[in-house]
Amino acid sequence: MAVERTLSIIKPDATRRNLTGKINAVFEDAGLRIVAQKRIQLTPATAGAFYEVHKERPFYNDLVSFMVSGPVVVQVLQGENAVAKNREVMGATDPKKAEAHTIRAQFAESIEANSVHGSDSLENAKNEIAFFFAGTEILP
Ligand code: CMP
Repeated sequence: MAVERTLSIIKPDATRRNLTGKINAVFEDAGLRIVAQKRIQLTPATAGAFYEVHKERPFYNDLVSFMVSGPVVVQVLQGENAVAKNREVMGATDPKKAEAHTIRAQFAESIEANSVHGSDSLENAKNEIAFFFAGTEILP
């Protein structure tokens, strides 16, 4: 298995409820290392560009509004098989369908306010990491 990096976002529903530390503990307990992290306020332009791939989906405008409704924590997670491992610990997009003990089963409020985002492929991870971080900000 290769050491990979993936982009994670702790979303506004989770930062609002002071869950950053609890969510980070799930990542670290799963063997993922937080090698970059910053708490930022997204703008509509930035959130819209990040989720550009969903532009035609009916939930796009609501998703962008939600993502700017409070601070987010963007982070780079590193570890063996990090892309798939992060998706496993996050659980299904819809918390009602997420396995028990996953982040979304434990913490998400709804399919939209689902506490975390994680890259869905290694290629997207590279692009999403570059969207938020300079190479010099990533410190393994
Ligand atoms: P995320 O993994 O960040 O990718 C796209 C986001 O759109 C998703 O998590 C949810 O927060 C949000 N979303 C809202 N409604 C839906 C839906 N019906 N299907 C998928 N994603 C949705």
